[in-house]
Amino acid sequence: MKCSISDYKAVQDLIGDIKDNKNVRRMKDFIQHGRISTFKHCERVAFLSYLLNKRFNLHADLPVLLTGAMLHDFYLYDWHDSSDGTHRLHGYFHASKAMNNARKYMDIDKLVEQVIYSHMWPLNITRVPKTKEAWIVCMADKIVSLKETLTERKHKKP
Ligand SMILES: [Fe+2]
Ligand SMILES: [Fe+2]
Repeated sequence: MKCSISDYKAVQDLIGDIKDNKNVRRMKDFIQHGRISTFKHCERVAFLSYLLNKRFNLHADLPVLLTGAMLHDFYLYDWHDSSDGTHRLHGYFHASKAMNNARKYMDIDKLVEQVIYSHMWPLNITRVPKTKEAWIVCMADKIVSLKETLTERKHKKP
């Protein structure tokens, strides 16, 4: 799905301030998939969420959609480091950690909380997305994550 300059500007206008936040920028220090930082991953999910919403005329609330997308993995740790066992079961618990950090560091409402909280459905089986925005981010995250994982696997081949 192609992102035009006007799409890029529209997304940038909505998440520029969030991306400049010093705590959000800490996501640059952590790897999400392969060599992709958590910050970059969230940015990609935000762009794809925007494009899916536009392509399928879903009429989502854009500030909720893009704020939720940009903060959906705001958990702030290296999930690959399980030396002390702390991040075992990362897949199951990180959505709550991301939501708590978003509450702590950012001014978010219940709709954005819902986007972050339910983005790991169906792994978090009981957390079915309840809003259009939460569904879009949940799907965009799956698509971006799969692409990042497959691309990285390709890089690893001899
Ligand atoms: Fe996640
Ligand atoms: Fe994600």
